[in-house]
Amino acid sequence: MLKGRSLLTWLDYTPEEIRYLLDLSKKIKAQRGALQRFSGKTLALLFEKRSTRTRCAFETAFGEEGGHPVFLSTDDIQLGAKESIEDTARVLGRMFNAIQFRGFKQSTVQTLAEYSGVPVYNGLTDDFHPTQALADMLTIEESCGSITGKHLVFIGDGRNNVARSLVVIGSKLGVHTTIITPPSLNPDPALLAQCKAFALLSGSRLTVSADTAAVSGADAVYTDVWASMGEEAKKAQRASLLKPYQVNSHLMEQTGRADTIFLHCLPAIRGEEVSAEIIDGPQSRVWDEAENRKHTIKALMLATLGLDNQ
Ligand code: CP
Ligand code: NVA
Repeated sequence: MLKGRSLLTWLDYTPEEIRYLLDLSKKIKAQRGALQRFSGKTLALLFEKRSTRTRCAFETAFGEEGGHPVFLSTDDIQLGAKESIEDTARVLGRMFNAIQFRGFKQSTVQTLAEYSGVPVYNGLTDDFHPTQALADMLTIEESCGSITGKHLVFIGDGRNNVARSLVVIGSKLGVHTTIITPPSLNPDPALLAQCKAFALLSGSRLTVSADTAAVSGADAVYTDVWASMGEEAKKAQRASLLKPYQVNSHLMEQTGRADTIFLHCLPAIRGEEVSAEIIDGPQSRVWDEAENRKHTIKALMLATLGLDNQ
């Protein structure tokens, strides 16, 4: 069904396709790497930015089923220094079955997909982090039951890659999605308008608010670092802007529910966007969420390489 497709952003996928990947992820998680479906396949892993979870999820998911992942830091390869993205894409497409890219510009991952002729996966850009959002949906579904009609609140930097990805996937899948952020960090209006149309189709609500009271009734509260990779210079300014938006026990109490779960894509900075009592407490699902990166990424690779029926 998804053979040959890239994943650059969930904007390109139908709700049915995303649902298919979620169900496949559950099946794969139960199999626990017992098969060898990537045998004889190769995967290029291009990184301009640091990574623990994304790199390890791709490497272990592919490697444990017989595939050969190759890690390529942009400190070591010609991309961006002596060679254009187009030429690098053409060469990698002749040698690899698929390519993962993590870096700055969304246009780089788009160009790789356009010129390589193989599936390309966005492992995080400044704009989107789609593989993270799929793992997040799986984690909510495992903890709270069917995600349709659930209420997800993202609180923090509302214009970052994680928030933007949650808005897209949530509005497509019928998840009531609320972004709580100061107005200066609102997600961009064009993306919101697009996602409001998806929400209308899926029967969900998409809300942006500066008021922490909007956390009321949440099934899941999600946050991320206040300054993303590449924004280190803005760290102090963000910290003063986002201090009132820290996820702590007072904020979690404002949900009015004891069973609200806490999510974070990680890495986390305790004492900034989240207090230790919450991330290390009973409501936290962050370790399940991190593990789910691997199962969802494996599902994505199996489906796009046409190996999902094996
Ligand atoms: N959540 C996430 O993408 O983590 P890494 O930056 O460690 O890959
Ligand atoms: N928004 C964060 C996510 C890290 C996984 C960043 O881009 O640094």
